[in-house]
Amino acid sequence: MENIVILDFGVQYSQLTGRRIRECNVYCEIVPFDTPAEEIRKKDPKGLIFAGGPGQIYSASDCDKALADLQVPMLGICYGALALARLFGGEGVSEKGAGYSRKQIAHSSGSPLFEGIKQDLSVCMGASQITRIPEGFRAAGEGVYEHTDRPVYALTFRPESEDTEQGQAVLRNFVTRVCGCRCEWTTASYVDMAVREIREQVGDGRVVCGLSGGVDSSVTATLIHKAIGDRLTCIFVDHGLMRLHEPEEVRKAFADKGIKVIYVDARDRFLSLLAGVTDPEKKRKIIGAEFIRLFEEEAAKIGDAGFLAQGTIYPDIVESGNKHAAVIKSHHNVGGLPERMDLELVEPLKYLFKDEVRNVGRSLGLPETLVDRHPFPGPGLGVRCVGELRVERLDVLRAADAIFIEEIRKAGLYGKIWQAFCMLLPVKSVGVRNESRSYEETIVLRAVRSTDAMTADWYPIPLELLEKISRRILSEVPVNRVLYDVSAKPPATIEWE
Ligand code: XMP
Repeated sequence: MENIVILDFGVQYSQLTGRRIRECNVYCEIVPFDTPAEEIRKKDPKGLIFAGGPGQIYSASDCDKALADLQVPMLGICYGALALARLFGGEGVSEKGAGYSRKQIAHSSGSPLFEGIKQDLSVCMGASQITRIPEGFRAAGEGVYEHTDRPVYALTFRPESEDTEQGQAVLRNFVTRVCGCRCEWTTASYVDMAVREIREQVGDGRVVCGLSGGVDSSVTATLIHKAIGDRLTCIFVDHGLMRLHEPEEVRKAFADKGIKVIYVDARDRFLSLLAGVTDPEKKRKIIGAEFIRLFEEEAAKIGDAGFLAQGTIYPDIVESGNKHAAVIKSHHNVGGLPERMDLELVEPLKYLFKDEVRNVGRSLGLPETLVDRHPFPGPGLGVRCVGELRVERLDVLRAADAIFIEEIRKAGLYGKIWQAFCMLLPVKSVGVRNESRSYEETIVLRAVRSTDAMTADWYPIPLELLEKISRRILSEVPVNRVLYDVSAKPPATIEWE
């Protein structure tokens, strides 16, 4: 399969570049900036992109010098342009902390990279500059450098940015005209490839898969089922902290597809362990540990399963390679099961971005309500029901949450919002209900926009819609106040606990 390799000098930027390459229907892989040239050669890439941005923590001199000898087309972008220039003996500077600026540039390049591109362009210019052009290169306009006899380019502006005019066309030129890619990568071709690989890996073995109701585990299970049929067994642990009707929806979606699902009703077990616990980290730990215990019990009953399927997706891998990430909350990913289970991992989505996972789900015929779902934390409503976890309180939260989601779906906003959900606070206030005094708890609405959940802004839901949601919740659910959370991450986090 034709492949572009992206050297990662700053994860956000290389991921965005990766998405843009995939949008050209070319498969790409992101590897750390210090990957040895020999390893990259083995991947047999059609082209190599050096991608990075400001605030990165790597030194351009940390990449393998032998990369310059790889006889493949290369493109350096922004900080990656500086790295590439240094690799070829040039020099440059990158202003720390400086962001991007809109700039009008003119280029004189007659290269395939700029075929069909206007000569005057408005671009998103980065903070890296090339101060000494490497030997064998020439400047073809501000921020545009090209090798005179090799297909090697360095751009100090960002073609992957939406703020760069014809930026996507420049990238498309790179993959098609410079690298000669045929652009045949599609969701359907991915499904075929994944099915083949799963069959190869699993042979005539058996696979267990934990289902959470989320997109990733659902698509993983469906894909594996397509590959090996009933040698897949899914385990769905209902911890009682799911959204309204979620357990039934998941069971139905999988039953319709003929996929074997062991449904474990562990609602009482979880709630009795959690009784009286209010500390968020304690809740997370209890839920995580009990989930694993139950999963192991059920997996042991299946007997000879040699493989464990996980819904790991691409950003999980790239992010977990980042040694600088701090642990803010002990994330218990329902997929993250213990190594001691001695099962070999099957991770068929590990090269896909979230929207690609959704497309694979659609092409496998999963219902839209399952495929377009907002992310949901492993500990579920456990971390959205602030204070004690009791069935009555969870039911109140479920009811309010269902109204909130129903209304934003009706308003056509669901797909525009990264995550929307309710919290229940153990804060009581006085109200009047049926002409008598009531004293009930508080619902908080939270809706955020984000691209990767690392940072987030609160979403400006129109006031009329907020009013409608609030009116419905107050009349249909026993709470006395509805509040709207207008906190950005950082310093807040998306979930409250
Ligand atoms: P925070 O609250 O840290 O959340 O801003 C970032 C993103 O991660 C989700 N989240 C979780 N996902 N297990 C998960 O699989 C967890 O324990 C967990 N906690 C938070 C959260 O919903 C948001 O999308």
